[in-house]
Amino acid sequence: MEKKIFSGVQPTGNLHLGNYLGAIKNFVQLNNDKKNKCVFCVVDLHAITVYQNPKELKDNILETVATFIASGIDPKKSIIFNQSQVSAHSEAAWILSCIARMGWLNRMTQFKEKAGKDKEKASIGLYSYPVLMAADILLYDSTHVPVGDDQKQHLELCRDIAQRFNNDFGAESFFKIPEPLIQKEFSRIMSLKDGTKKMSKSEISDLSRINLTDGKDQIINKIKKARTDTLPMPSNVQELDSRPEAKNLIGIYSSLCGISTDNSIQQFSGKNFSQFKEILSQILIEKIIPISSEIKKLLNERDYLTKILSEGCKKADEIASKKIKKIHEILGF
Ligand code: TYM
Repeated sequence: MEKKIFSGVQPTGNLHLGNYLGAIKNFVQLNNDKKNKCVFCVVDLHAITVYQNPKELKDNILETVATFIASGIDPKKSIIFNQSQVSAHSEAAWILSCIARMGWLNRMTQFKEKAGKDKEKASIGLYSYPVLMAADILLYDSTHVPVGDDQKQHLELCRDIAQRFNNDFGAESFFKIPEPLIQKEFSRIMSLKDGTKKMSKSEISDLSRINLTDGKDQIINKIKKARTDTLPMPSNVQELDSRPEAKNLIGIYSSLCGISTDNSIQQFSGKNFSQFKEILSQILIEKIIPISSEIKKLLNERDYLTKILSEGCKKADEIASKKIKKIHEILGF
């Protein structure tokens, strides 16, 4: 069966190892399978749910495109575009916000985390953000959506919105019900400073994450300083439940090497963390530095990156505007 793949990444700078292992690495594999039709979106409309400096946003949009390409996504095989340039996304988001229920959105844990204690001061966009995400996915009749574990709840909401629209308007299977593609293991990479918190671009300390633009010395330094416990390396998987930092570092190592957690544990069982950290740094350098060098090179080719986006936008617009037209007919506009 042909799979229609859609996913998005926010252009908010500092794309990190979590984005790479949780999502982008998967995008590359899906892009390489000829049977798939892939659309990868730089979700700039999602980014402005919190204030963005316009000049930095412009740079970050291009940096996200550069990261996609440096990681191995081929713009000849996949559509790469930015959301704001295809107006159907904003329009569909409005329409779907009339389908989504307040009760459904009130359950979204990411909004609660991002808005913090002062919910009254959060933008309405931050609250309705998952509805825009549903619009992104449904406009392309996407069958599969590769994401990290933190987006799972938003995808469930997207499925609910699609089903409700189809039911309300008697339009059976008009919106396809998308399947999340979340890896069983390594779908949530944690902070290097606290194994119970997600690795995130918004955490203040840069030591908490490996950025995809980090150089060799930064990687070595961050892994050296990464928090661990005082015990030797674990000798079985059960031990990981009570040792979040060890679990995270072993997870990162396993994901980069493409091996199971069990296999990594066998390799390092009983050794010191310092020995393991040296090997982990080496593998990170081997996998991340080529990407980071390619990103830096591509950032000097702004015309090339801009052209990829404008060609991608044309293709995306063709698909999305057809779907919006059909939505209009269904609604009676
Ligand atoms: P964003 O920009 O926060 O993250 C991009 C992708 O990276 C994954 N990710 C992680 N995976 C594992 N461990 C982590 N620490 C980690 N941090 C981030 C995210 O799960 C995501 O897959 N709402 C989305 C963007 C979006 C979207 C869409 C995704 C907008 N429209 C439509 C899919 C389909 C977001 O903010 O991702």
